[in-house]
Amino acid sequence: MEKKINSGKKIAATKSMEFIDPKKIIGLGTGSTVNHLINKIHETFVLNGQLITAVSTSTETTDLASSLGINIIDLDQVDELNVVIDGADEVDPENNLIKGGGGALLMEKIVASCSKQFIIIVDSSKIVSNLGKFPLPVEVVQFGSERIKDSVERLLVSLGYQMPKVTFRRSETNKYVTDQHNYILDLHLNEILDAKALSLGLLQLVGVVEVGLFMDLASKIIIGDD
Ligand code: A5P
Repeated sequence: MEKKINSGKKIAATKSMEFIDPKKIIGLGTGSTVNHLINKIHETFVLNGQLITAVSTSTETTDLASSLGINIIDLDQVDELNVVIDGADEVDPENNLIKGGGGALLMEKIVASCSKQFIIIVDSSKIVSNLGKFPLPVEVVQFGSERIKDSVERLLVSLGYQMPKVTFRRSETNKYVTDQHNYILDLHLNEILDAKALSLGLLQLVGVVEVGLFMDLASKIIIGDD
């Protein structure tokens, strides 16, 4: 199963190369599927002497891309991105997504929202009929985070979720801290009833920075399956 998923990710990453213009700045998402893409860009362009410039969505992506000779620049140095390619944790039939399994949702959403085309690369295990089996990541500030968690739980109950479980993302020893120095709450909902209402409700809570629901953003989904 793991092998099949990995080859699906590789197939999707390889296909997405068709949408890259090496002369234009590329937006690179985060995660194992994007790592396949970064390796492909290295093999296809960098090793052939082509200078590739990209905007990154995480330290993880910056580290890998830079180590493979891709020039990473700051988003603020770019007026407009032609294409951003990123992975996802779940994709529904309307191309709405859950993202943030790798903790990079805030930077990913900012970069995606600056892009003309936001292309998602996934293996077929990510395709679902309803979002929500994958715990929904919500990025929150560190100050008062236990109280923010309480208000998230209260909101979920008011929206009709029965006994919602909300947990802090953990690193080995402590609460996981994102590249933007925030915490992540994982919302174990099993099924999301109304993604728009949930997203709006969460974003109105003080201390919530961003929500891992990406709606009406993806322009293309590439699904890899051997
Ligand atoms: C990073 O925070 C996420 O949004 C990833 O894009 C998502 O978790 C997909 O990761 P994989 O490509 O590793 O499955």
